Amino acid sequence: MDFESYDVLVVGGGLAGIRAAIAVVEANPRLKVAMVSKVYPMRSHTVSAEGGAAAVLRPEDSYETHAFDTIKGSDYLADQDVVEAFVREAPIEVIQMEHWGCPWSREPDGKISARPFGGMTTWRTCFAADKTGFHMLHTVFQTSLKFDQIHRHDEAFATKLLVEDGRCVGVVAIDMRSGKFDAITAKAVILATGGLGRVYAFTTNGNICTGDGMALAYRAGVGLKDMEMVQFHPTGLPFTGILITEAVRGEGGYLTNKDGERFLKRYVPNKMELGPRDIISRAMTTEFEEGRGFEGAHGKYMHLDVRHLGEAVIDSKLPFMRELGREFVGIDIVHDPIPVRPVQHYMMGGVDADISGVTPLAGLYAAGECANVGLNGGNRLGSNSLSECLVFGAAAGRQAADYVSSARAPGSNPVGAMLKDETARIEAAYLDKKGGDERIGAIREEMQLAMDVGAGVFRTREGLEKLTKQLGTLRDRFEKIKIEDSSRTFNTELMAAMELDFMLEVADVITYSALAREESRGAHSRRDYPERDDAKYLKHTVAFRTDDISPRLEYRDVRITNFKPQARTY
Ligand code: FUM
Repeated sequence: MDFESYDVLVVGGGLAGIRAAIAVVEANPRLKVAMVSKVYPMRSHTVSAEGGAAAVLRPEDSYETHAFDTIKGSDYLADQDVVEAFVREAPIEVIQMEHWGCPWSREPDGKISARPFGGMTTWRTCFAADKTGFHMLHTVFQTSLKFDQIHRHDEAFATKLLVEDGRCVGVVAIDMRSGKFDAITAKAVILATGGLGRVYAFTTNGNICTGDGMALAYRAGVGLKDMEMVQFHPTGLPFTGILITEAVRGEGGYLTNKDGERFLKRYVPNKMELGPRDIISRAMTTEFEEGRGFEGAHGKYMHLDVRHLGEAVIDSKLPFMRELGREFVGIDIVHDPIPVRPVQHYMMGGVDADISGVTPLAGLYAAGECANVGLNGGNRLGSNSLSECLVFGAAAGRQAADYVSSARAPGSNPVGAMLKDETARIEAAYLDKKGGDERIGAIREEMQLAMDVGAGVFRTREGLEKLTKQLGTLRDRFEKIKIEDSSRTFNTELMAAMELDFMLEVADVITYSALAREESRGAHSRRDYPERDDAKYLKHTVAFRTDDISPRLEYRDVRITNFKPQARTY
């Protein structure tokens, strides 16, 4: 059997994936790259990033300050050597984007504009109004079109990593248009599949963020690191969960409770609205619990007020926020406060990878939100993520290019057998299955609501234990799902089933990892263990799949270089 074969295969068509693909061909123009994405690349979730990308570009800023802010923001769970390398590379990548034509917002002298962001001590968040992700994704996507060596497989759903003799050599993917199962082989694979926010009911994440890459790696035996660290952004629109960017607060917006009080003075008095996300999300949740939130049709909320900024500032810096207010809430933010509440936004945890994206599985790399390279620890600072996608996407691409220069091509025999097995598995589990009366939508919704309650802003042993049982029951029910669409063309019901399978997998890892970390650090806030415990838990959690229902957990020391852990007050 012959298969399409490449030097490097990138799974994911967002910012990290495209940056990785470009880096491969920049490193060696003779290499042939495949980019496999379940959506057309411009529909990747990067497109919805709003506020900006952090980089030290202003004379008053320094690498050391950016590193310190990131490490303190991470609640000292970041690997400090990784952070130190990141802050040096981020400006290079942002300027590279400039050269590729990114339409950054600019100062009167033509320099790229920066705005303040939460947990950052100075203005270093470079932005393109409040649609930064859209513009950055567009920039790398159109740049990638210049390279004939990059071959796209759009709307192809990766179901399994191909592993031969302990090396990752490609994926099995379903071409969604034809329904055909393909083995797409390569000497190296880079996972850049983004986050898993859809595991939660209330999230800023698009429908496509279902933890696919994390689950694929986990099933291939790779550990998932720090999966208990789930970020809640303080300002999502009630009901839809649409992100109201932190840039609103960066530009001077206030958060107020139902008494009209800027309540953050009780929680982050020196930073107020520019405190880090984990602390502000907890502050809002506490205010709700103590009866100081507004009550609405979609639960409790706070006001985010920009009326004092005036129409000119709003229209030049936050035009998309005005549009979102109008379209999704029926308000004009020039005249009305915005209702907001904490919302799942980002996954600090992910595929265990090093500073170059190397995972413990030979030939497999990971970058962007699906990876955990050690940058974000317990809490990512807003605007480090777009820069992370560039810096670590590029690093993974370069590393993979180097690896494939001496790696042998995969053999066709084992690949053929693996394709046959995987096709048979999916047909038996979903397409040809008789009986079953469970509905995907019902299981997904129950999982999402259970995750919101059990593994949300605050956690307890009792809540997490209950959640493990709920997820176990949902897994049993998943085995009895019924798929009514038996067609092969754009069978979105089949895709939804496979996404739910991935989500149940990663939800379990979040829950068991959170149960085992008996301390509070960053976004992981245990009511029964309210203090950080450096003696026991200045460590990464690494979860491995077992045949049992729970993962096997290992702990690994955090790498400390120049920043000794201290109390995290703002
Ligand atoms: O609020 C925001 O614009 C989000 C930025 C980020 O998550 O980096």
